Order: sequence, then structure tokens, then C-alpha cells
Amino acid sequence: MTYQLTVSTMNAFQLLFLLLVSCMVASARPSCHPSSCQVVQMDALCSNLSLTSVPVNLPRGVQMLDLSRNQVQNLTQETLAYCTSLHHLNLRSNKIHFIQPGLFRDMTELKVLDLSRNHLNVVALSKTNIGPLIAVESLDLSSNGLYTGMSDYFLADSPSLENLSLNSNSITKIAQDTFSGSLGLKKISLHNNVIMEIEDGAFDSLNHLTELDLSKNSITCITNFNLYNLKVLNLSKNSLELFQSDSSDTFYNLLHLDLSENKMPYFPCLPRNNVLKYLDISQNQIQTVSECPEKKTCVLSHLRYLDISYNQLRSVPECFFCSVRSLEILNASNNCIDSFSVTSESLLQRVRIIDLSYNSLQSLTFEENTLPSLEELFLQGNDLTTLDHQIFQRLPSIKYLHLQKNNLKVCTSEQNKYRPELTDQKQEPPSCVSFSSVGSLQFLYLSENNLLTLPANAFADTPLKLLDLSLNPGLDLDKDSLSGLEHSLDWLLLRENNISSLNTDLSTLRSLKHVDLSTNRLTSLPRWNKESSIESLNLQNNNLVTLEYNTMLTLKSSLKTLYMGSNPLSCCKNIGSLYVVQQSAVVVPDIATVTCIHEEFSEPVNIEKVTVSMCHTAGSKGYIFIVVLTLLVLMSMLALLVKCCRSRKRKHNRGFRA
Ligand SMILES: *[C@@H]1O[C@H](CO)[C@@H](O)[C@H](O)[C@H]1NC(C)=O
Ligand SMILES: *[C@@H]1O[C@H](CO)[C@@H](O)[C@H](O)[C@H]1NC(C)=O
Ligand SMILES: *[C@@H]1O[C@H](CO)[C@@H](O)[C@H](O)[C@H]1NC(C)=O
Ligand SMILES: *[C@@H]1O[C@H](CO)[C@@H](O)[C@H](O)[C@H]1NC(C)=O
Ligand SMILES: *[C@@H]1O[C@H](CO)[C@@H](O)[C@H](O)[C@H]1NC(C)=O
Ligand SMILES: *[C@@H]1O[C@H](CO)[C@@H](O)[C@H](O)[C@H]1NC(C)=O
Repeated sequence: MTYQLTVSTMNAFQLLFLLLVSCMVASARPSCHPSSCQVVQMDALCSNLSLTSVPVNLPRGVQMLDLSRNQVQNLTQETLAYCTSLHHLNLRSNKIHFIQPGLFRDMTELKVLDLSRNHLNVVALSKTNIGPLIAVESLDLSSNGLYTGMSDYFLADSPSLENLSLNSNSITKIAQDTFSGSLGLKKISLHNNVIMEIEDGAFDSLNHLTELDLSKNSITCITNFNLYNLKVLNLSKNSLELFQSDSSDTFYNLLHLDLSENKMPYFPCLPRNNVLKYLDISQNQIQTVSECPEKKTCVLSHLRYLDISYNQLRSVPECFFCSVRSLEILNASNNCIDSFSVTSESLLQRVRIIDLSYNSLQSLTFEENTLPSLEELFLQGNDLTTLDHQIFQRLPSIKYLHLQKNNLKVCTSEQNKYRPELTDQKQEPPSCVSFSSVGSLQFLYLSENNLLTLPANAFADTPLKLLDLSLNPGLDLDKDSLSGLEHSLDWLLLRENNISSLNTDLSTLRSLKHVDLSTNRLTSLPRWNKESSIESLNLQNNNLVTLEYNTMLTLKSSLKTLYMGSNPLSCCKNIGSLYVVQQSAVVVPDIATVTCIHEEFSEPVNIEKVTVSMCHTAGSKGYIFIVVLTLLVLMSMLALLVKCCRSRKRKHNRGFRA
């Protein structure tokens, strides 16, 4: 008995001990693996884990450590777990306000260091250099509340630094010696500071500097610009009133210059010996393209892109183009230009895009062979009423024509034939624009032109893919207006035209895939046949009561998107069509606004709630009524018949008896 008891007690103790140990092991496990850093080969990803230091269990030899979005405050050898093999350290968005001086001395492999979004202004207040940063090539100090002079403590000893971001700090002045400890810099970003002053020579000793971003600062004037090696300079969003290069003949490497959103009243004075390709001077107060006050002539023979939109230009004289013969893109939108002409053959041979939208153009002239490469022309928002009617036939590469918001008329086939050289002088040239035989035109935007008619064969021999005729209320389409487009037209936009019925047969347009007929007064669907391949159809906001069943059945096979909200549809007259829509793969994006009218409901019913039985009930009531009526008639007839027969029988019986 005793023995047995002892044994069982011992067993119990053993069991207890085992339990205890396994418990301890279990509770110890999380402390052995305190974080859930993801380790992929030599990269440790520990972002957003509320860490205050590097987890100690990271494998030796980690090369990339992402510790962004954590709670690191004190950056010391302990917090970095003595990781010295790092190549890339990301400490973005922590709360670092202390860095152990000399911490990075032993990190001889560290090339990329991201310290953005911390409290490095507090670190700088201790007035000790954090360096040296022996191997660091890319350093991000953005969004750290640093003000003038504070960056010195981070840059003092950074011989390998190539790429520096000081974006979104509070720096007001770049002193002469700011970058004297980092002479290898290639790219500096100072975007979004409050720089007002750049001391003479601040960037001069940076022989490798090729990119400088000074956008969104408070610089008012650049005189004697002499950074010959710079390739990209961004001075957008300052308060520049003057940009002037030095007047030497030294060669400049500058390729990209962004001077947009400043206050310059004159065209900038650019380096004479230049290879500038890209110039943005949009959103300034420039009134003339002739150069700077001194009117030096400067040839921008490599310029490909010029944006001069949102200025106060009244004209762009043709002689200006003599100096920009490589131009490919010209944006002169949103100025006050009232006339534009290109008459010389040799000037703009390479231009692909011209944007003259939102000016006050009254006249526009392109002579033959002057714009052989022009593909896209923006003329919207100009109130143009007359144009030389054959102007677009002179653009052999034109593909996109943006003519919305003007007052143009489309020529008839008769007017298309007018040739000044063939007709006698007395005949007035037509006051319309011809769109026939524009051999390369594919996209034509003619919305908001107060167009009242679209004549027959208006686009003959023009391979239009897209035609936008929207917002021309009262537009009367000739029944043959779209003929010639049978095999090319893909998109047809007829939005807000107050059309009550289409007299043009859209079913002949075999390529048509996208049709917008929204906001009109249509009472019936255009007819389509089996050959149609409509993919998207917008019927929103019309007067449609019924959707013709056979047309819906035809459309079903190709249709992918159908808009049909805001129509006075009848619920029960459309049961068939609605069923077709429900059963097909068609998406109805505006389904929430698609309602129909049902006599039993005072409010329109959402079509998703319409059921066959809703309509059958109404129908079967009538049916029952008719059946009952017929039965009643039949019964009364039968009754009459029976009565009749009986009386005859009686007579007969009487007779027999008699
Ligand atoms: C960070 O982690 C918290 C909680 O784990 C989560 O709610 C949050 O969405 C994460 N933030 C980001 C940017 O991943
Ligand atoms: C950081 O260091 C300071 C002293 O340098 C100390 O007072 C503070 O508690 C430390 N903070 C953390 C989170 O270790
Ligand atoms: C320069 O540094 C910025 C910020 O860290 C980074 O986004 C960019 O990719 C770097 N560029 C090069 C060329 O290293
Ligand atoms: C210049 O900086 C502005 C503002 O940051 C930016 O929008 C623009 O794209 C930059 N320009 C170039 C040429 O990079
Ligand atoms: C021309 O500049 C305006 C205004 O900045 C812009 O909206 C438009 O898209 C530009 N045009 C082209 C063709 O890029
Ligand atoms: C649309 O046409 C109707 C009938 O012709 C007319 O009464 C109405 O004013 C027109 N609406 C507009 C916006 O032109």
C-alpha cells in the first residue's frame, strides 16, 4: 500500500515537473523570437512592428534592414544590435532624436541610409557630427524639421555621398560650405524648403552634380547661372522673377529645366551654348517669347519640349520657331494668342503635338508642307468660327483633332469641292471646315460647337475611329452623314444633343463598339442587326418607355456595358428585355438609378425588384375576368338553350298526349 502510494506520488511529482518545464519552454518561446521580422535571404524586413531596437536574434550578416515605421528613439550600437555588415538601412518614420556619435564609423559597407521622417533637428541641437559616413552613397534626411546649418552635422564627413535628399525641411539658406564635406554629390533634392538665399559658389565645388531639385522654395532671382555640369534643374514653384545664365560661351550640359509656377515676366535668358531638350516655363507672367530684356538671340537647337502654357502671350511670332527647329511638343495653351500661323516649310518639321487650346484664336494658318509630322492638334476652347476650309487636309500626319468648344460648321460635299484656284474669284470661300479626305485623321472632337446640321458624306475618305458630336443641342444628322465610316468608326458620342429620334442608321457602322446617346429625348432604341458588335451603350437620361426586345436580343451577344438610368421605362412592357439583360453578362453600372413604372406602385420601381409575377398578377386578373365573363355568357346561353329545348319537348309531349 505504502509503496504504491509512494510510486504514485512520485509519478505525480514527475508529471508536475514535466508540465512546469514544458510551460516554461512555451512561455520562453516568444522571448527567443520577440519579433516577426521577415528574413528573406540577407534582407530583414521589420517594418511597423512597434520596435524600439533591432531584434537581437537576427541572423549574422544581414545586409538590408528595413526598420521603418517603428519606435526607435535612441540610435546606438545596442539598438542596432551591433549590425555592422549592413549595406542598406531604412529607419524612415521612427522617432530618432539621438544618434551615438561615430555610430556609422564601423559600418564600412553601408551604402544607403534612410533617416527620413525622424526628429533629427533634435540630434542637430547637440552640435556633434554623426559621421563619418564612410561608404554612404544615398542619404535621405527629408522631413526632419532641419533648418539652416543643421544639415552640416550629417554631411561633414561623407566622402562617398552621391545622392542626398533634404526635402521638406525648413532650410532658408544654402551657405557656401554646406556641401564641402560631400564633394562627390551627384544629385541633391531640396524640394519643399523655404530657401531664399543661395550663397555665391555654394554648388560650384560639386563637380559631379548633375541633378538639382530646388522646387517649392522662395527663390526670387537666379543671376549668373553657371552650373555647367548640371543636367536637370528644377526651380518650379518658387517666386522667380528672373532667370539669367552667365553670358559666356561656355558649354552647358543642361537637358531639363523646369521654371514652371514662378513670376517671370520675360522668357528666361538661357545659356547660349546649350543642349537643352526640355523647357517648362508654364504658369509665369510671360507676355512675349522674344528673349529676355536684352534680346540676345539664343538658339535652342536641341529643344524637343516647350511648355509655355498659362502665361500672357498675345502671339507666338513665326520667327521664334527659327531658334527651336527640333521642337516636337509645343504647349501654348491658356494664353491670349489670337492668331497663329506657320508658313515656312523648314521650321517645324519635327513637331508632333501642338496645344493651342484655351486661347482666343481668330485666325489659324498652316501652309502646305509646313507641319509634316503633326499628329495631335489641340484647338479647343477658342471660339473659332471660320478657318480656311481645307486647313486640315494640309496636315499629312494628323491623327487627333481637338476642336471642342468652338463655333465651327461642317462643310457639305458641295462645299468640300471648293478650290480657290479652280473657281472664279468672285465666289466667296465657304465658311465651314472640311473633314473629308483627311487621310490620317482618326479622332475628331467636335462637341460644343453649336453645330445644327451634319451634312451627308461629311467624313468621306477620312478613316475616323472616334467622333464626338456631343453637346450640340438640336443637331440634325443627315441620314448619310456618317457614310464612309462603315468600316472604321469605333466610338460615336452623341451626348446631350436633344435628339428625339436618330434618322441615321447606325447598324451600317460595322466597326462601331461604343455609343453614347445619353441625355437626349430618344423614345426608341436605334435598330441594330446581327452584324453589330456594340460593346458599350449609354442610354441614360432619355425618354425610353420600352427597350425593343429584338434589338436587345441582338445586342446581347456583344454588349458588355449598358447604362440606362433615368428613363421612364415601363416595368411590364420590358419584362422580356430586362430578362435578356439579367441573363447576359452585361454590366449595368448605373443599376441603382434604373427604375421602371408600374401602375400598382406610386413610385418608380428599381428594375432589380421587378419580377415576372408582378406583371403576371396584373395580367392574370384580367385573364380571370375574361374567363369569368366568357363562362357567364356561355352559362346563360346554355340556360337559354336548355329552357328552349324543354319548352319544345313539353310542346312535343303535349302534342303526343293530345
Ligand atoms: C501597422 O501595423 C498596425 C497594427 O499591426 C496596422 O493596423 C497598420 O495598418 C500598419 N500600418 C501600415 C502602414 O502597414
Ligand atoms: C534614450 O537615451 C536617453 C539618454 O540619452 C534616455 O534618457 C532615454 O531613456 C533613452 N530612451 C530609450 C527609449 O532608450
Ligand atoms: C536617391 O535617393 C532617393 C531618396 O532616398 C531615392 O528615392 C532615389 O532612388 C535615389 N536615386 C539614386 C540614383 O540613387
Ligand atoms: C519639378 O518639381 C515639381 C514639384 O515638385 C514637379 O512636379 C516636377 O515634375 C519637377 N519637374 C521635373 C522636370 O522633374
Ligand atoms: C498643356 O498644358 C496644359 C496646362 O498645363 C495641360 O492641361 C495640357 O494637358 C498640356 N497639353 C499637352 C498636349 O500635354
Ligand atoms: C429640345 O427640344 C425641344 C423640342 O424641340 C425644345 O422645346 C427644347 O427647348 C430643346 N432643349 C434644348 C436644351 O435645346
